[in-house]
Amino acid sequence: MSIEKTIRLTLNGEAREFDVTAAESLLDLLRRSGLTGTKRGCEDGACGSCTVIMDGLAVNSCITFAFQAHDREVWTIEGIGEYGNPHPFQKAMVERAGVQCGFCIPGIVLAVKAMLDEIPNPSGGEILEHLDGNYCRCTGYEKIEDALHETIAETVGEEPLWTR
Ligand code: FES
Ligand code: FES
Repeated sequence: MSIEKTIRLTLNGEAREFDVTAAESLLDLLRRSGLTGTKRGCEDGACGSCTVIMDGLAVNSCITFAFQAHDREVWTIEGIGEYGNPHPFQKAMVERAGVQCGFCIPGIVLAVKAMLDEIPNPSGGEILEHLDGNYCRCTGYEKIEDALHETIAETVGEEPLWTR
C-alpha cells in the first residue's frame, strides 16, 4: 500500500497543492503536472538534465522526493523567462548558438540562474563548482561558455572575473 501525503508549495510563483506518494520523485511530480521542460536523463543524480531551483538552490529533481518540496519555492524552466523577454542567459544561448538537441538546456539554464542569483560575477572555480553536474552531449561546451561569459559581462556591467 502506498502512503499518500498532500504537499503545498510555490511552483513557478503560484501556490499549488498536490497529492504525492512517499516514493514519488519531484521529477515525476513535475512531469505528470505537465511541466515536461524538466528532462528525465540518468535518474541517478549524475547528468543534471532534471535540474530545478528549490529555495534558491539548483537541485536534481530525480533524486529529490516530491514531499521534500513541501513548503518550498520551486522554479522550473517554464517559470524562467518568457517569449519576447527571456532570461539574459537564454538570450545569449540563442545568440551564441549554445543549443543543439536542447535536451540538457533547461537544466543548464536553471543551474546558471541559481549560480548567478547567488554570485553575479563568479570565478572560474565557482563556475566549475556550480555547473560540473550538468552534462551536454552535443555542444562541446564552448558555445555554452561563450553565452555564459556574455551574460556575466552584460548583467554585471564589467569584465567577468572568469577569464577564458
Ligand atoms: S535525470 Fe536527474 S541527474 Fe540525470
Ligand atoms: S544540446 Fe544536446 S545534450 Fe546539450
